[in-house]
Amino acid sequence: MKSHSDFNGWIYSFKTITGFAAILGQIPEVCPFTLGNDTVMSFLRRFQTFPDPTQQFIVEIEKQILKHDSEHHTCGKSFICEVLSGRSTSKDQESEHAEATNILFETFFAAAAEIAVTLGTVFYCLLTNFDAYERLVAILRAPTWPKSLELTPEKAAYLESLRLYPSYSPPMERIVPSQGIEAGGYHIPAGNIVSVPQYMAHRDVSIFGEDIEVFRPERWFEADESSLRRMENNFLAFGKGTGVCVGRDLAMLEIRSCLFGLLQRFDFELVSKKPLPRITMYWMLDHVNFKVCLSHACK
Ligand code: HEM
Repeated sequence: MKSHSDFNGWIYSFKTITGFAAILGQIPEVCPFTLGNDTVMSFLRRFQTFPDPTQQFIVEIEKQILKHDSEHHTCGKSFICEVLSGRSTSKDQESEHAEATNILFETFFAAAAEIAVTLGTVFYCLLTNFDAYERLVAILRAPTWPKSLELTPEKAAYLESLRLYPSYSPPMERIVPSQGIEAGGYHIPAGNIVSVPQYMAHRDVSIFGEDIEVFRPERWFEADESSLRRMENNFLAFGKGTGVCVGRDLAMLEIRSCLFGLLQRFDFELVSKKPLPRITMYWMLDHVNFKVCLSHACK
């Protein structure tokens, strides 16, 4: 943020990689010849249009894990130490190493990118629905804003943005347990890999209402207790169950504080409505033609 840029091209690179992975990753037969192939990847990394700080980051994480293990740290004083000390002893070393690398990578790299992208999405939703933006700003700048409510207006805006456009939508695969499962009138036998796309779950009219394509943060306030519970249960922006995002509360806290601070101090509007900004989504979401003008709010 300090340099007003995408540091080391991380966000750009993450989006590029997930763009490829979202398509090629669905065809396991192709993977060994493309993104899963070291020779192909080291060839592609030579091109500037295919930067891969993701790889640099993973190499750095792996170095830290080896350093940690060679020094026999068990102090638990740092976050890295906490994660590495908690590894299970029942697994083989290779899969433990891969799991620790994945968690540290998600935490330090992906989490930062997801927060930035989500914040952009909330602004995208608000500014392309200017009435909603004005309503929210009026509430947040009013001296009597009801701060004690658990579901605050900026949280509703945040949930509604993630409902329409989940910023990170990996397949979130789960393996069917030994007894199999019944879903939508079908029996799915044990051992199959299943996944519920966030995009579909968030557009279920029986849960979110007929106007599912509309950005309307108020829907989170209007719902009675049981509907709200159903909406929350169907809200998959952070995954569910095993593998659920461990940083969801932190993410919510960070984004809500940013929104609150920014919307109170600054006025925002789209630089131009032509062409209209739009969103693309391949695991990681991207905002296209989204340029915003920012000025100090009048007191
Ligand atoms: C708005 C921001 C964020 C979004 C939208 C997001 C979304 C997600 C999603 C969809 C998953 C996959 C869940 C699944 O497979 O069921 C995930 C996993 C994960 N997230 Fe987040 N995340 C965010 C912020 C964060 C933050 C701030 C942290 C850490 C401080 C974090 C750490 C992780 C970790 C470690 C995992 C892997 C969990 C595991 O595999 O056990 N995330 N996140």
